[in-house]
Amino acid sequence: MTIIDLLKNRSVTYKFSEEKLGDETIIDLIDSARYAPNPTGIYEYEIIIVMDDEEKREISKTCLVPNIDSAPVIFVIVCDETKIKNVFEENADEICIDNAALAAHSLVMRAQELGLGSAMITNINQEEMKELLNIPKNYIVRWVIPVGHSDETAKSYKPSPPKAGDIVHLDRF
Ligand SMILES: Cc1cc2nc3c(=O)[nH]c(=O)nc-3n(C[C@H](O)[C@H](O)[C@H](O)COP(=O)(O)O)c2cc1C
Repeated sequence: MTIIDLLKNRSVTYKFSEEKLGDETIIDLIDSARYAPNPTGIYEYEIIIVMDDEEKREISKTCLVPNIDSAPVIFVIVCDETKIKNVFEENADEICIDNAALAAHSLVMRAQELGLGSAMITNINQEEMKELLNIPKNYIVRWVIPVGHSDETAKSYKPSPPKAGDIVHLDRF
């Protein structure tokens, strides 16, 4: 499948089948995040692989997204913003947000390419999640990404993208 096919066919998955993911698949997904574009070369984000059932249940609760604990793996992307702040005086938070989003999107698109479902979740209670996963205080939790085989019975709603004519301008706004 080409990238445009993957983009057109992906839709969010919140409910997963019981099928597990092999270690090679998990490493492959991590690689896709590692190879995301990075403007600074600082790589301030880190990824927690959550496979423990109780932890997944708690993540599902704290993000207010039911069923994501059915995923065999939940990736949690966290950022050490101080690494950016040590180098750039301004816009550290924007840089962190951009980089984590690029890593998250790469991971999700690789999951799609492997025939797996995923969700990108940002509604995260920082304090609860840090406590739950033992994340240091100076980190920011940016993404929660459950990945696994989609439960085919749970169809998700996919909004239509805007028409190109509604968002594109030629030469000037
Ligand atoms: C930046 C971003 C943040 C999101 N945050 C959440 C979230 O906090 N909770 C949630 O249930 N879904 C979240 N989603 C999933 C969206 O609800 C979902 O992507 C949206 O319904 C569009 O559907 P699609 O991904 O199938 O195109 C998020 C998606 C994106 C791209």
